[in-house]
Amino acid sequence: MGFTVMGVTAGRKDSNCEILLKEALLVCQEQGADVTMINLRDYELLDCNGCTSCTMGMSMGKNTGCSLKDKDDKHKIMNVMLNQDAVIFAAPTYDLMPSSLFLKFMHRNLAYESAFLTKIGAIQPRDRVGALIAVGGSTRSWQSMALECMQVTTVTNSFKIVDMYMATQVPAPAHVLLYDEKLARAREIGANVMKALNTPAPERKWLGDPEAGWCPNCHSNCLCLGEPQWRGLQYPIECAVCGAGGDLVKTDDGKWKFVIAANGLERDRTTEEGRGVHCDEIADVQGGFFMDPNAREEVARKLPKYKKIQFKGI
Ligand SMILES: Cc1cc2nc3c(=O)[nH]c(=O)nc-3n(C[C@H](O)[C@H](O)[C@H](O)COP(=O)(O)O)c2cc1C
Repeated sequence: MGFTVMGVTAGRKDSNCEILLKEALLVCQEQGADVTMINLRDYELLDCNGCTSCTMGMSMGKNTGCSLKDKDDKHKIMNVMLNQDAVIFAAPTYDLMPSSLFLKFMHRNLAYESAFLTKIGAIQPRDRVGALIAVGGSTRSWQSMALECMQVTTVTNSFKIVDMYMATQVPAPAHVLLYDEKLARAREIGANVMKALNTPAPERKWLGDPEAGWCPNCHSNCLCLGEPQWRGLQYPIECAVCGAGGDLVKTDDGKWKFVIAANGLERDRTTEEGRGVHCDEIADVQGGFFMDPNAREEVARKLPKYKKIQFKGI
């Protein structure tokens, strides 16, 4: 049976993201994949309302689902998206990061967290391949969090990201059509997705530039200073995307390199085991709050003061 590959974009109609995504998807189709493509601009999508019913479910080991499930198109899209063999995401960069439409859609993935739902037996484990395309008007300097933010939103559904591409300096509508090399790189994304799909899941690996990014685990370019995490784990330096922990080391040629510690992948967010620790943290910290009548009583006592404060609005 052929593979299913879906493209999800949030870019302008007939513009850069759509064009690059179509180039990538064409390669998948040429190699026999059954291709679907959507632009999030065509759907009604509500912002996560923060009701926390999904994470309360996690605290109780129950699949409560999303309280907005029947109120917009998210669930309809997820029914298709989560049943694909691979998904290629393409988002425009706004203010250094993916546009709010892309993030609005992806933040709603929490109710579909596969680490949790697999653990309680609500869903069957599924291997998914993913690839990312970020598009911006400027250079990497002005797209510094684009691929990183995109990637982290895909971990919730355990997409194994095998390649990512940042198309730079294409601000105008369909501007990318001037650059054959950018179109060719998008086709390479499609080819790498197919290569990954034709590889047994446990052997699937990163197929982009091996030197891409600071992090050898997820290839992000985003590192931060480590601080104590839940239950005290701490690293000198962390990858802001996958959570790999380690330190900066100077190589013989005088360059800095991020070296992952022996225990540095304990909470690797790209794995269900790593995210499972975060599910346990939610059960402990949020679940602990709801289970503690003293904590709830103290908050109920202190809250009215803040409810009464009403500053002038607009
Ligand atoms: C509100 C807004 C903010 C933007 N911010 C950035 C930015 O921070 N960095 C950048 O490289 N491009 C930025 N751009 C340019 C878009 O990323 C660019 O036009 C891109 O081609 C849009 O992709 P599309 O044609 O697929 O919609 C911004 C555009 C808009 C409308």
